[in-house]
Amino acid sequence: MKKKLEQIKKEVLDKLSEVKDSPVLRDLEVKYLGRKGILTKHLRGIAALAPTDKKVIGKLANEIKEDLTAEFKRLRNKLDYNTVSSDFIDVTLPGQHIKRGHLHPLTIVQNELEDLFSSMGFMILDGPELESEYYNFEALNIPPHHPARDIQDTFYVDTQTAANHKQMATNSANRLVMRTHTSPMQIRAMLKYGAPLRCVVPGRAYRSEATDATHEHTLNQLEGLMIDKNISVANLIAVLKAMLSSIFQQEVKLRVRPGYFPFVEPGLEIDISCTICRGIGCPSCKHAGWLEMLGSGMVHPNVLRAGGIDPDKYSGFAFGMGIDRLVMMKYGIDDIRLFNSADLRFLEQF
Ligand code: FA5
Repeated sequence: MKKKLEQIKKEVLDKLSEVKDSPVLRDLEVKYLGRKGILTKHLRGIAALAPTDKKVIGKLANEIKEDLTAEFKRLRNKLDYNTVSSDFIDVTLPGQHIKRGHLHPLTIVQNELEDLFSSMGFMILDGPELESEYYNFEALNIPPHHPARDIQDTFYVDTQTAANHKQMATNSANRLVMRTHTSPMQIRAMLKYGAPLRCVVPGRAYRSEATDATHEHTLNQLEGLMIDKNISVANLIAVLKAMLSSIFQQEVKLRVRPGYFPFVEPGLEIDISCTICRGIGCPSCKHAGWLEMLGSGMVHPNVLRAGGIDPDKYSGFAFGMGIDRLVMMKYGIDDIRLFNSADLRFLEQF
């Protein structure tokens, strides 16, 4: 019996030396020390021994049980501690640095413009970039033979081939161009909402340009249109001043020149004093000290008619501003081509 008890003790200690996790430890404890455990069974057998053996074996058996119980306890504490320490999170450690994204400078200023015009009661509209020749030119008082079509170098879309395939009619309503300006939305807005009307249309326009520091083939414009009774050039100038002072956060020097656009009468071109050279002259303003920012004027009666509005009852102003140029002047950016360059050294400054 004595030998058997010592053999059990050795067997248990050997197994305990290899235990790595709590469930295995628990199973071993049940197997040897549980109510039906191996050691427990032997302890029960001591009662049947002769009184002299009972005393000696009983003492030994109790010592072995106590030693093993203590060893199980020690190991349990150790394994529990390891589990807790591996789950432990030190919340005071500095976090992982996640780089924050940010908006493109064109988007920042477009958002500012939208907020400003919403606050003045203008709707913000969106229009198609692939536009019919009718809306891009004809409805804006620029018929097919008109020389004003040459002012905007247009990307015409080859709908003739498609038309031959689909037997489409090839009138100007079906012929497509990449819109050269946001002005076609003047007609679309008038037809949809009628008069009185106040809206701005931010968006891309496309021109087959030889690019330079102030000209891009993909440019961003903001079209503005206000139609009501008794609208005059004074209203136009007041809105433009409010817009430019809000974007530049200061009074800006404007230069108003007569300009020709077939869809307005009279037509005005608005320049602002170059903020890069402060009006002295630099490559960004082509050494003029001024940069052309927008075209504008009073909506031509033919355009009002094309939009279904009676020119005898209503008048209105319209403007089309280059958002890229405005952003260049606001942040002192000397080359428009940086906007589409995807150059992070440039973009990360905003
Ligand atoms: C127009 O596009 C007219 N639709 C503007 C207009 C609207 C006039 C309503 C009257 C009434 P223009 O081609 O001048 O006009 O362009 C307007 C502005 O867009 C310019 O003043 C300039 O700021 C910007 N712009 C024109 N071409 C480019 C280009 N290639 N790259 C960058 N900006 C340009």
